[in-house]
Amino acid sequence: MKRVTKAVLPVAGFGTRVLPATKAVPKEMLTIVDRPALQYVVDEAIEAGIEHFVFVTARGKGSIEDYFDSAYELEDSLQRKGKTAIYDDLKAKQPLEGTMSFIRQQQAKGLGHAVWCARDVIGDEPFAVLLPDVLIQSKKSCLAQMIEAYNEIGGNIIAVDSVPEDRVSDYGVIKPKAGEDFRSKKIIAMEGMVEKPAVSEAPSNLKITGRYILQPELMGLLKDQAAGAGGEIQLTDAMARLMETQDFHAFAYEGQDYDCGSKLGYFEAVMAYARTHGDIGEGARALIRQSAKLG
Ligand code: G1P
Repeated sequence: MKRVTKAVLPVAGFGTRVLPATKAVPKEMLTIVDRPALQYVVDEAIEAGIEHFVFVTARGKGSIEDYFDSAYELEDSLQRKGKTAIYDDLKAKQPLEGTMSFIRQQQAKGLGHAVWCARDVIGDEPFAVLLPDVLIQSKKSCLAQMIEAYNEIGGNIIAVDSVPEDRVSDYGVIKPKAGEDFRSKKIIAMEGMVEKPAVSEAPSNLKITGRYILQPELMGLLKDQAAGAGGEIQLTDAMARLMETQDFHAFAYEGQDYDCGSKLGYFEAVMAYARTHGDIGEGARALIRQSAKLG
């Protein structure tokens, strides 16, 4: 079985739910405490053993590429001023040259199309997809938990979590195989999935969270995938087709997810990461307690 060493991060979206900030700043670059949201997702993937990142970007997203590049003038200035700790910290986060690819999605045709744009770099290997809108705070990185499971069972694995029934139409929703019970098992077999179903038609209340381990055959299906929900080429629709010939499992990860593509979700993420931050955690917790008293 081939190891999972590559990850696709679709970062081409407009971020319309957090306008006007995203008019000039990609939503993936919005700051959560002291780093862009995207850095948390990259860290999650590095902890899982990912060695190559494929960012599917778009016009106006150049700051993402700059962020992962070395910043010569800044580094030189920090060194000359003796700010060694800050310099070391910056360099520690600097990815090795050649480990990141940036591919432009030329038309906003949907998530499935964005993933397909990465096909030449992925080649004939299983790969991870991480949707950077979603941050997952956990002891062990969510993708690392999934890769552990993958190394035992192979196939395709999707992170899922339960949502209140009236929220299912915001997500991709899975259909567990008959007899599989998520309350007693961490990994269950699936037999279907549907993107943004009407509440009355949802096959369960288990949403797709935005972390996937997929087999390369998916790329062939994405190539001719027809537009689905919202008139977009959906990853979920192509996965549902792949399920006819390959195993898919739903995985219950340990951790808390935050939807940073929405204003409230972003605010919640900032609070959660501030509370547990090494430098400002204590101060942040005190401020949150104080503001709770104000009501
Ligand atoms: C995407 C996926 C959906 C998934 C969601 C998770 O939807 O298409 O299946 O449940 O991310 O956040 P989007 O939020 O991009 O509309």
